[in-house]
Amino acid sequence: MQAIELINLESESSPFQALDPLQDARRQLEICNACRYCEGYCSVFPAVHRARSFSDGDIQQLANLCHNCRGCYYACQYTEPHEFDLNVPRVLAEVRQQSWQDHTPPSVMARAFHRHGSAIAVLSIVAMALLLWLMQTGADHAEGFYGLLSHNAMVAIFLPAFGLPLVAIGIGLRRYWRTIGGEKLRLSHLKDAFASAAQMKNLAGGHGDGCNFEDKDRFSHARRHFHQATMIGFLLCFGATGIATLMHYLLNLPAPYSLASLPKLFGISGGVLLSVGTLGLGVLKLKAERHLADARVWGGEMAFIGLLFAVSSTGLALVAAAGTDWLTLMLAIHLGSVLTLFVLMPFSKMVHGFYRLAALIREAQLKPH
Ligand code: HEM
Ligand code: SF4
Ligand code: SF4
Repeated sequence: MQAIELINLESESSPFQALDPLQDARRQLEICNACRYCEGYCSVFPAVHRARSFSDGDIQQLANLCHNCRGCYYACQYTEPHEFDLNVPRVLAEVRQQSWQDHTPPSVMARAFHRHGSAIAVLSIVAMALLLWLMQTGADHAEGFYGLLSHNAMVAIFLPAFGLPLVAIGIGLRRYWRTIGGEKLRLSHLKDAFASAAQMKNLAGGHGDGCNFEDKDRFSHARRHFHQATMIGFLLCFGATGIATLMHYLLNLPAPYSLASLPKLFGISGGVLLSVGTLGLGVLKLKAERHLADARVWGGEMAFIGLLFAVSSTGLALVAAAGTDWLTLMLAIHLGSVLTLFVLMPFSKMVHGFYRLAALIREAQLKPH
């Protein structure tokens, strides 16, 4: 008798707490399907309204379309304390996180990163910087950076550190594509998805006024703009490395490069954008209400933002340290940060870009043209 009363008391506080995120998302989306108030808020609701029932794959696809703007939560009349207890942004964030973890091997690593992200990121940077520092004794005493760490050593470390995580992400994406019932890729679907990702159309909010992420009473484009700066900055930095590799192998022009060279121009502008973007995203995340996202992974998400900031700021510091005694130390810390970002790619929030792109391609396949 006492036990039954206890169960009742618990269930009064939150009758849906025992549901796993997929079950709870299904329950909530079925209510949304009847209500339809949020139809124009984002691309999730039109996709919800196309369906009569939701398979696990459908729910994971919808979760990867949601950009956690929170507009539907602030507009909803069925949120806590209403007995329906709806929180669509949170439940979709939980499903989304689970879908990345379950599909990308080994999933135990992603769980660890999202629980102890900052500690893992800091320890990895220190360990890898130390390793690179020690390896500088094996340098070939050439000019510039390769006098500090030999070119062969860099290739031997960075090639597998970049390639193996990409293989893990590729395996995960293949599994995910099967789970969501993806069909054969067509150029028109890819064009649609890349255009949407390039403009960050979804982060603009359904009506184009921006989103409520950091402030429920105000629409703002801040998150979209900081995300654009982060993404473009990252791609420019990546481009700088690519151009430098081509110059090294095809044109026989090894580093160091002058300030007016393409690798430096791409690297410095990318570094500035990435630093500004990640600082902005970090500040917005501190302001936003945590219970409207997957609170379990808040630390891991912050660690990912911090890791990107570490890469860009140490890269800029490296440029500033040219010709000084700090160069060797800065090179070890910068390369240690880049190596950490690469190695942790499949387990950190870095995977979101890949899964979200896959979701956009699937949405292009499904939506009526
Ligand atoms: C296909 C390309 C991409 C798409 C469609 C995309 C989409 C999104 C969306 C919708 C969000 C907000 C929702 C959420 O927090 O999950 C987000 C957050 C974020 N994205 Fe991207 N993204 C892409 C690529 C990238 C790239 C290349 C980077 C940088 C390496 C990046 C860095 C971030 C960061 C730092 C956040 C903020 C995380 C947070 O607030 O916790 N994204 N992205
Ligand atoms: S979130 Fe609330 S208001 Fe929006 S469609 Fe769902 S039930 Fe309706
Ligand atoms: S949080 Fe924003 S993107 Fe996600 S379902 Fe709600 S309105 Fe759509």
